Amino acid sequence: MGKQDSHRSQPVSGRYHDAMVRTFSGIQPTGEVHLGNYLGAFGRWAREQEPEHFFCIVDLHAMTAPYDPPVLRERVVDVACWLLAAGIDPDVSILFIQSHVREHTECTWILNCVATMGELSRMVQYKEKSAQRQSVSVGLFDYPVLQAADILLYDADEVPVGADQQQHVELTRDIAQRFNARFGETFALPRATLPRAGARVMDLQQPDRRMSKSVSSPQGKILLSESEEITRKKIMRAVTDSGTEIRAAEDKPGVSNLLDLLAATTGAEIAELETRYKGKNYGDLKRDVAESVNGVLRPVRQRYAELRNDPAEVAALLRRGAGAAREVASKTMDRVRERTGLVAS
Ligand code: TRP
Repeated sequence: MGKQDSHRSQPVSGRYHDAMVRTFSGIQPTGEVHLGNYLGAFGRWAREQEPEHFFCIVDLHAMTAPYDPPVLRERVVDVACWLLAAGIDPDVSILFIQSHVREHTECTWILNCVATMGELSRMVQYKEKSAQRQSVSVGLFDYPVLQAADILLYDADEVPVGADQQQHVELTRDIAQRFNARFGETFALPRATLPRAGARVMDLQQPDRRMSKSVSSPQGKILLSESEEITRKKIMRAVTDSGTEIRAAEDKPGVSNLLDLLAATTGAEIAELETRYKGKNYGDLKRDVAESVNGVLRPVRQRYAELRNDPAEVAALLRRGAGAAREVASKTMDRVRERTGLVAS
């Protein structure tokens, strides 16, 4: 024992060997998927899709903040449709809804008995969120343990997260290590991977800040769900800089962002674009960016519309994903139950 991979369950599809790196991504079900999410995350995940990548829509995590039940249900399906529309292929990856695999909540309880109040109290996200609220649910406090269960159930090697989630992945490692020390080698130890350099999309109105679900104004972010006309208008009204020169530079964040968007959506190099736009004006650049962004989003938006019109198909794909996930998660839970002294049922 002790070899991290020794207890790894068979690859889900049976087609892949054990040396494969297993990746787990948790995605919050927010309806507002924007261009930054697409170019920086979803779209790239889809293009670089590898087997053994689990995509989990974390509806149980979404319940830790006040919410409206019909809206939650709607958003979960919505984000699933965007992931599928972006090209996440259920024949390659495993896409599923967290609450469909009951092992997540079961594992959370057992990990609750390993995690400590002290370490959870030190979580920055908890401290920040709880400071903004009058009443703090136990669920909010326990959020990172549910996240640890998500990751550990699948023996994930890599967890691609933003900087704000690194602490939760570190905690997951700590919990796994403590569990293994107490009950015997059970969980693989995951590591956080910062997203590989993808497009960094900045807010169109405040180009020194990232395009963000929560912070950007409606004019500052391009939603995948909006029409081409609205996308075009937002890009035409993007903040640029005084001066007229089209080049990427630190003191030209607006123009740099537009060049980045054009590079990300056409595959051209920035330097090449700077040459191409010599003598042209900001309006020319914006028109081309709008066309290029809309061109890239067009098939995604079309596919999304088709999926939204076919809820039965989406439900079937999600059921299939849950089935594949459960196969892995239930084996892990068998191991956990056995190690922790629960009587076999
Ligand atoms: N907490 C993550 C976020 O806010 C979402 C998440 C839940 C997650 N479970 C996960 C991310 C497991 C990675 C792995 O973005």
